[in-house]
Amino acid sequence: MPFSNPRRILITSALPYVNGIKHLGNLVGSLLPADVHARFHRQIGSEVLFVCATDEHGTPTEIAAAQAGLDPQAFCDAQHARQADIYRRFGLSFDHFGRSSSPANHALTQHFYRRLDAAGLIDERLVPQVWSLTDGRYLPDRYVLGTCPHCGDGGARGDQCDACGNLLDPVDLIAPRSALSGETRLEVRESRHLFLRQAALRDRLSDWLDARSGWPPFVASLARSWLTADLKDRCITRDLAWGVPVPRPGFEGKVFYVWFDAPIAYIGTTQDWAAAGPGRDWRAWWWGEAARETTYVQFLGKDNVPFHTVGFPATLIGSGEPWRTVDVIKGFHWLTHEGGKFSTSRGRGVFLDAALDALPADLWRWWLIANAPERADVDFQAARFAAEVNKDLADVFGNLVQRVTRFARTAFDGRVPEGGEPGEAARVLTAEVKDRVAAIRAHHEAREFRRAAAETRGLWARANAYVQETAPWSSVRVDRARAASATRVALALVEVGATVAWSIVPDLAANVLRATGAPASSGTPAWPHDLEGLILGGRRSGSQLSHAFEPVTKFGAAHLDFA
Ligand code: 2FM
Ligand code: ZN
Repeated sequence: MPFSNPRRILITSALPYVNGIKHLGNLVGSLLPADVHARFHRQIGSEVLFVCATDEHGTPTEIAAAQAGLDPQAFCDAQHARQADIYRRFGLSFDHFGRSSSPANHALTQHFYRRLDAAGLIDERLVPQVWSLTDGRYLPDRYVLGTCPHCGDGGARGDQCDACGNLLDPVDLIAPRSALSGETRLEVRESRHLFLRQAALRDRLSDWLDARSGWPPFVASLARSWLTADLKDRCITRDLAWGVPVPRPGFEGKVFYVWFDAPIAYIGTTQDWAAAGPGRDWRAWWWGEAARETTYVQFLGKDNVPFHTVGFPATLIGSGEPWRTVDVIKGFHWLTHEGGKFSTSRGRGVFLDAALDALPADLWRWWLIANAPERADVDFQAARFAAEVNKDLADVFGNLVQRVTRFARTAFDGRVPEGGEPGEAARVLTAEVKDRVAAIRAHHEAREFRRAAAETRGLWARANAYVQETAPWSSVRVDRARAASATRVALALVEVGATVAWSIVPDLAANVLRATGAPASSGTPAWPHDLEGLILGGRRSGSQLSHAFEPVTKFGAAHLDFA
C-alpha cells in the first residue's frame, strides 16, 4: 500500500463519451468505484477532490450530432445535461462534473501542444487519409466503414473493429464506404498532421512507471507492454471541425485528436471547479510544490490503460513543467451482459436510465461493487443479480435493521434503551467488530472493492447472529435490563454496519442511520472510531429514534424487463 491516510487525494474517473447514455459496464468500470473511493476518503477525513467530465470531441460526437440534426455544440449541451442528471441520481458525488469542450480545456490543450513543440517533441508528417469525393472532405476514424482486414467482419469502423477488437486505420479497411453518405467514391490523399514523439520519451516514461506502486498487477503489466513493444509516435491531430483548434500555420481547419485533449480535461475540469467557488486552488492538486502532498488515483477500464500510462504521462512529462502525474491507476476488466459484450452501438446491456427506472440506485451500486471486475471479467445475469441483492440487502441487512429498530420502537418507547450491562457475548462481539471494521477500512484504502463489500456483508451477518442469539424480544418480559442492553448493542451494530457501508450504498445507509437515531444522518458520516464507546459504553443511550426504517423491497428478475 503506497499510502494509508493521505492528507489530500485527487480522484478522477475516465471521462464518459458525451454521446449516449452509458451502461452498467461503464458505471462499474470507472465512475462508481471512483465515487466509492471518494466517499470513503471523505469519511476518514481526507481532503478529497473528485472530478469527472463528459468527453465531447471526436468523430463519434460529430456523427451523432449530425444524425440528431444538431450542431455539435447544441448536441453536447443536451447530452451533457442528460448524463449529469443520471449520475446525480446514481449518487455520484463529483466535486465537479465538467466538459472537455470547456474554454479552460481548449486553452490548456493548446498550452501543452506549445510546450511539447518547444521541447522538440512534435513532428509534422504527411499521412495517407481517406478523402471522399462525394462528401468533399477527409474521413478520419469512424467516418469510414468497411470490412475488417483482420477478421473479415463487415461492420468495422475506421478506428476499430468491434468484432475482433483490433485498432484500425481507415485506409486499411476493405471495401470502405463513407459513414456520412454511404458513398464508395473514396481515394487516399496525403494530409499534414502532427505527431507526438512518444518514442523519444521511452526512457523517461519507463523510469516514471518504475517509480509507481500499488497498481493492480494486470494494469502494471499492460502499461509495461505498451511502453516496450508498442510505443509508437502518436498522431495527435485530425481533419475535423469539432474539437480544439491546432494553433499552427497550415493547420487551419484541423483539431487535436480527442485522445490528446480528453485526459488534459482532468486538469481543465479542476480549473473549472476552482473558478466556480471561492478559495479553490487548482494548483494544490496539480502543480509543483503546491501539489506535493496530493496523491492522485485514476479509475478506468482496461481499454483506457495505454492512453493513461503512455499518452497522458507523455504529454505531462514532455511539457517539462512540474505537473502532478498519476500515483495509482485502478483499472478494471469488463462487465459482460448475460454471456455477451455490453455494447452501446448495438444497444445491448442494461443502460443507466433503464436501470434507475427499474430499481433504486443503491441496489445497483451494491451488486456492482460487490462483483466489480477487478481481477477478471464478470458476467451480469439478471437472475443472479436479483438473488444476491435480495439476500444481502433485504434478507441480511434490511431484515436486521427492521427487526432491531422496530423492536426498539415498540418495546422501548422509540428510544435507544438505557440500563443493563453488556455481557461477555457483547465484549467478544465488540472485539470482532473492531477487527472487521479495520479490515473493511484496509480494503477500501487498498481499493479492493469486492473485499470491502464482502467484509461489510460479513459484519452484517455477524450482527444478525448476535441479535439471533440474544433475542431481546424473548427476554424482555423476564429480564428487561438484559433486553435493553442487547437492543442497545444491536442498534449500535446497525449504526456501524450502515456507516461502513455508506460509501457503497449512501441512500440506504442514510435511511438506516436516521432509524437508529444517529446524529448527522445527512451528509458524510464519519468513519466509526471508539467502537467500545459506541457498542459497550452506550454512547447513544436515551436518544430518540425519530424515523422508521423504510424496508428494502425484494424484487424478481422478471421485474427487470431488459433481462
Ligand atoms: O473510453 C472512453 O470512454 C473515453 N471517453 C475515456 C476518456 S478518459 C480521459 F482520458 F479522458
Ligand atoms: Zn475485426
